Formats: sequence, C-alpha cells, structure tokens
Amino acid sequence: MCGIIGYNGKDNAIPIVINGLKSLEYRGYDSSGIAYFLNDKIKIIKEEGRIKKLEESLTNDTSNLAIGHTRWATHGKPSKINSHPHRVGNVTIVHNGIIENYATLKEKLEKDGYVFKSETDTEVACALIDNLYKKTKDKLKTLNKLQEYLKGSYALLILFEDSRDTIYAIRVGSPLIVAKGSNGNFVASDIPAILEYTNKYYLLLEGEIAVIKRDSIVFYQDSKEIKKELLTFEHDISSAKKEGYSHFMLKEIHEQPTVIKNFLEYYLNNLELIPDLSKYKKIHIVACGSAYHAGLIASYLISKYGDMEVSTYVASEYRYKKNFIDNKTLVILISQSGETADTIASLRLAKEYKATTIGIVNVVGSTISREADEVIYINAGCEIAVATTKAYTLQVLALSLFAFKLGIKKGIIKGIEKEAIIKDYLKLPKEIEKILKVDYKEYAKKIYKHKSVFFIGRLIDYCICEEGSLKLKEISYIHSETYPAGELKHGTISLIEENTPVIAVVTDKNIADKTVSNIKEVKARGAYTLVLKNKSLQLDKGIYDDVIEITNLNDLALAILAIIPLQMIAFEVANMLGYDIDKPRNLAKSVTVE
Ligand code: AGP
Ligand code: GLU
Repeated sequence: MCGIIGYNGKDNAIPIVINGLKSLEYRGYDSSGIAYFLNDKIKIIKEEGRIKKLEESLTNDTSNLAIGHTRWATHGKPSKINSHPHRVGNVTIVHNGIIENYATLKEKLEKDGYVFKSETDTEVACALIDNLYKKTKDKLKTLNKLQEYLKGSYALLILFEDSRDTIYAIRVGSPLIVAKGSNGNFVASDIPAILEYTNKYYLLLEGEIAVIKRDSIVFYQDSKEIKKELLTFEHDISSAKKEGYSHFMLKEIHEQPTVIKNFLEYYLNNLELIPDLSKYKKIHIVACGSAYHAGLIASYLISKYGDMEVSTYVASEYRYKKNFIDNKTLVILISQSGETADTIASLRLAKEYKATTIGIVNVVGSTISREADEVIYINAGCEIAVATTKAYTLQVLALSLFAFKLGIKKGIIKGIEKEAIIKDYLKLPKEIEKILKVDYKEYAKKIYKHKSVFFIGRLIDYCICEEGSLKLKEISYIHSETYPAGELKHGTISLIEENTPVIAVVTDKNIADKTVSNIKEVKARGAYTLVLKNKSLQLDKGIYDDVIEITNLNDLALAILAIIPLQMIAFEVANMLGYDIDKPRNLAKSVTVE
C-alpha cells in the first residue's frame, strides 16, 4: 500500500514526482506529499486528500532531486501532520509499509530527547535513522544498522540534508524498483510511475540498498557493493494509460478478450508448461479477495475434472490455522500483485513445511513470483483499477487449464470432449466481446438506489456470485451478500422485501432446477430478480424480472464468461452513484500489510 517515487536528474524533479504519484495513486490516496532540495535545504509540502490538492499547494520552485509519497494510512488517521515525507533532524523519508516495533523504538528515542509530531510509525523510523547517523557518521553503515533495529515491512526513500546529490533507498518487505533514464534516475514502488521516461529498471530485493545519484546507481547488500541485472519492462506504456476510456476499470474490463486470447494461444499450445497436479496428495489454494474467489472456482473445477479434492483458504486465516501441510502437499498462491502480505506469509509457511509452492501472479519479479518454487504469470499487463477484473479472469483461466490438464492426464477428459473443450476456450474472446456490447445501465437503474443486494447461486455459480458481489460492494458501497441459493431460507430470506434486488446466477444445468426453486422463493416475497443464465437453459419467464443470457460453454470456460456481466453491472451502478470507481474509499490496490 502507498506509492513512493524519487527522481534525481537533469530535469525538474517536481513535476516528474507529481506525475509519478498520480500513476501510483491506486496504491493509496488519503494524503500525499513531496520533499525536494531547494538551495541546499530540504523543502516539504504535504496535504490531506488527493494528489490534486498537493498540486494546488505547489509553488514555482524547481529542483533536480525530489521524493514523493501517496499514503494509505496504517498508523494515525489521514491528516496533513501524519502524511509523508517526515523529517527528523538531518533526515527526511517517505515510507511504504509498517514498522511493527515502532512503539518500543519510540520510547527509547524519546528518552534520547526526540519529540514526535505525528502518530505514525514512519516518523519513528526517521528519528532512528537520524539517531544512528549521528552515531555512525556514515550513511551506508546507518542503513545497514537500521535493518537490525526495524521489525516489519518497509520500502524507504531517504534524504540526508548534508547529501544534496543523493537519494538512498532500502527495501525490506515492501516493493521498490530503481530505474535508469536518459536524463536521470528514478526509484518507485511500481513500474507505471516511471514508464513515461524509461522502461529499464532494476528490481530491489530484500535487504538491498540503492544509492541513487544523477549519473549513477550503486547497489549494496550486507555492506558490500553488488551488481544487478538491468531489466526491460516489456508491456507498452498504454497498459498504464486510460486510452480514451473514462475509467481504468472500464478499460481493463474491455481488455479481457485480448489478454485471454493471448494467454490461451500461448498455453493451449504449450500445455506442458502447465503444472502437473497428479504428483501431489493434497492441494491447498491460498489467496485473498478476488484471487480467493478465483481459488474457489478452481477447487470446484479441479475436483470435477481432475477427480481430486482441493481446499481453498483465505490467506489471513491459513497463515494462523493448523494446516496439515507436508512434502506431498501442493500449495497454490494466487495474487495479482504478488505482494499481498498474508499470501506471502502463507507461501513462507508452506515452504517451512516442505510443500511445493506455485504462484499465479501478474506482477513480474514480485515477492511471490520470486519465492514460489514455480510461477505462472498471467500476463494481464498493468492493472490499475483497485477493483480487479482482467487479472481475476486470467487467474480463473490459468487454474481452469490446471484442471483441464489434470483431467486429460487422468483420462477423465479425452477424445471428442477434449477437442470440444479446446473449442470452447477459443470461443471466449469473441463471446466476451458480445457480452460487452450489452447496455448494462438498464439493470443498474434497478439496483443503484437500494441499500442491499443479494447474489445467489449453487456450486460454481455460487463461486461466481462471490466475485460479482465483491465487485459491486467495493466500488458502489452498496451492501451485498452472496448465499448458496439453498441456504437463503435458513435465515437470510427474512431480509427480502418488496423490490430487494436478488441477482441469481444459473449456468450449471445440473443444478439449475434447484436454484430456480430458490429464485421462486424470493420472487414470491417481492424481490426484483435478475437472472444470469446460460442460453440453453429454458426458464419459466415468471421467475425473473430481467434476464441476461450467455452462450453455453463447457464450465471450464463458462466460469470466465459469467463474471463479465457482473463486472459491468458493478461498474454501471457505481457510475450512476458518481463514485470514484478506480479508487474506492478505504481501499488500496495491493495490501502489503496484515
Ligand atoms: C479485488 O477487486 C480487490 N481489490 C481485492 O480483493 C484483491 O483481489 C485482493 O486484495 C488480493 O490482491 P492480490 O491479487 O494482489 O493478492
Ligand atoms: N505506516 C505508514 C503510515 O501509516 C506508511 C503507510 C503506507 O504504506 O502508506 O503512515
């Protein structure tokens, strides 16, 4: 969470840092700030609220070296005083992460005479650096010592007032890249922040320090200088721009036909690159949020087509429960960012127990991609909107291919059926395009004024509902809940009143009759029912107020198709309500804290 960026070069650093912060705003957006050198002194400007407000507070200053921060508060409310950069003595820093032992450190530093203005853990880290620097009088020694004292996760950019030409960066836990441009050098939380200037970057790894000057970048690990590989970001800059769409979310929804087509073309021709699940006795899938929902769908598909029991867990639970993991267990970690703290902790736990780990990740070089035994990149390109869409569908697709391959290996999928499934996979891009031509405003109109919405479905349809419901609530702030359709009558049906929206997903023909009975139950109690069904199912018109139909495909492919209308409904509802869709309140794109 939070975005940080620094620039040291020939150009004016202030607009570069502000632009960079704007492209990192998806990581945190409750306050922001900038620090730059002006006549050998560090000047700090910060504001509560969006980066626009910070921009309004800027003067005509120019500087060749600046660092900036856009915050997602963890310690202390969003306010000007708590926002970054923080300055103590000779030191100014911006920080992404959490210092877990900040209270103990604060007490000690207060005894040494430090007085704190903010409630943040960051200011404590800043004071500690100042304190260590006073003792060591050496910047590198200070930063090496710092790692012995700080517990938690931190990506820090550090300015020393007596070092006018240098940005110091250190990474433990939270991500950082260092980039080389033609007119100067950059350091940032993520690639979109620098893409306008360069696509050449270094990935800072755990415990590494970067010393960034205008014409040079030097890396250190354990006080020794190290050489690092200069990487090239392959996707073009368009993936980090809106390209005519009103919102990143809308753009990313519309990118799904293309990214799915690319993924299928690659993996259907190279099925040997998909992991062979038949080697394992037990499979656990671990993830958070939408990635967890992708895991729910996967456990259904793998058990159906691979005849294997799979359990899916929320990472924040998994890391603390008794798990029965051993060296015959496969643990699959799903994460768009590859930086989600609970998913990383689960990965490390699985490794402790000698399980094999596979990461399904979007961000190349992220922690999960580096630490898992094997990684399948979904190649969605940059996903900027906080509400995930294209990364989620690609996660489902990747796992669907795991199930497909296992089914073939076990002889459950063979001959004509195998060919039919491949055909269905290949229909996905065109079918999604068709679904995206529908005007979803019509349905959104019937939902957006309500306080509560219910999603119901059974089996795989239930898993799809979970994701549809999360999409709706995170961007429209409408309370929404998902129920296995048969469970509603065990209590929750008491909440159904005249016109309460109930969205029912009925794609699985084997269970459709049962779900239909449950739709009738809510309809009889006055609900507005919107049914999302596969075309081949004949339903009695009396059970729904509105219906959305999708082409009937094998459920290995259908699971991907069915979410698209729900993504669009969530988008249109939030749009009618006038909310900031790409940056919903209280959220951040990548959750790097527990
Ligand atoms: C989805 O729209 C959410 N923003 C959120 O649930 C997200 O999927 C979750 O935080 C996991 O993120 P990750 O895939 O980067 O690990
Ligand atoms: N823990 C710090 C704070 O609350 C940094 C949070 C962030 O990563 O934005 O200010």
